[in-house]
Amino acid sequence: MLAWRVHENGEPRDVMRLEEVAEPAPGAGELLLGVRAANVNFPDALLCRGQYQVRPPLPFTPGVELCAEILALGDGAEGEIGARVLAQPALPAGAFAERAVVGAHTVLPAPEALDDAEAAALHIGYQTGWFGLHRRARLAAGETLLVHAAAGGVGSAAVQLGKAAGATVIGVVGGPRKAAAARELGCDLVVDRRVEDVVTVVKEATGGRGADVVYDPVGGDAFTQSTKCVAFEGRILVVGFASGTIPKAALNHALIKNYSIVGLHWGLYNAKDPDAVRACHDELTKLAADGKVKPLIGDRVPLAGAADAVQRVADGTTTGRVVVEPGAPEERR
Ligand SMILES: NC(=O)c1ccc[n+]([C@@H]2O[C@H](COP(=O)([O-])OP(=O)(O)OC[C@H]3O[C@@H](n4cnc5c(N)ncnc54)[C@H](OP(=O)(O)O)[C@@H]3O)[C@@H](O)[C@H]2O)c1
Repeated sequence: MLAWRVHENGEPRDVMRLEEVAEPAPGAGELLLGVRAANVNFPDALLCRGQYQVRPPLPFTPGVELCAEILALGDGAEGEIGARVLAQPALPAGAFAERAVVGAHTVLPAPEALDDAEAAALHIGYQTGWFGLHRRARLAAGETLLVHAAAGGVGSAAVQLGKAAGATVIGVVGGPRKAAAARELGCDLVVDRRVEDVVTVVKEATGGRGADVVYDPVGGDAFTQSTKCVAFEGRILVVGFASGTIPKAALNHALIKNYSIVGLHWGLYNAKDPDAVRACHDELTKLAADGKVKPLIGDRVPLAGAADAVQRVADGTTTGRVVVEPGAPEERR
């Protein structure tokens, strides 16, 4: 089968190679999956660069989530051949490949309301948004939510989940194309960080009060801006550092303004509270069926386009999710 592999660390476009590799076989309790869609996440770029918190042995196949069809069952594995499922293949054998093997107990049913690309994109981004906004920040209806990188992968999910929760959502984006996407996603107000002052706009829009919850996958300057326009008793969710800069918090500032800085590592819930992850999936499936959330797919590319897609996400030029479709129709390969 074909799989992308990284043999040395570096920029995705330079180090990802599409290669013919041995077809994987499902062991006891495992499923063989035919990958239909695998969306790019920012950590794929960090994995290529060797800058992610996890460093898989070289060579490895990137790709951390997918929508797939069950092709075969290992001994004792439960599942239905042909069923459409969501999964997170364990590295070093990731999702940017024609096939993947995963533990049967780890897969989730793909929501019927969504196509393969949308279904793949409903998992990490939306779970992160849901746990961040509801479990960690306790977002309430009527509150104001500020989302940085609002047209990006996790940001677009947070915008839709914020609206579904009854919040007023302000989205921060870089550039007019992303501003249009953020409006389309349902933001009540969009700030283009390249031409507007985020702090001034948020304060004006909230009558000087500021945002109750801030969703920050960017870090760096975005975090500094957040501390200047967060409301009394507001919560700043530390989601990621796509800017490349991990900010240092001034705790005296948090003290004098009565705001909270709330860390979020969604992946931990898979080990610490798997029942909550499953309950969240059911909730997201219902929201998708009701038309309240629908992942924004900015681009769909065939398997051969994966390295370029990861590079574009790394460069911060994409909107929503870019999805790799190994099973794309022949004319699109
Ligand atoms: N905590 C968790 O559990 C968790 C879970 C999933 C993802 N994450 C993290 O969330 C972050 C976003 O992931 P994603 O996959 O959704 O990516 P993404 O938001 O689609 O892409 C990153 C966005 O960040 C903004 N950005 C600002 N400065 C940038 C820079 N110097 N380089 C690149 N982008 C820059 C860009 O949007 P604008 O131009 O519009 O500002 C860009 O589109 C990552 O750091 C990821 O590790 C965390």
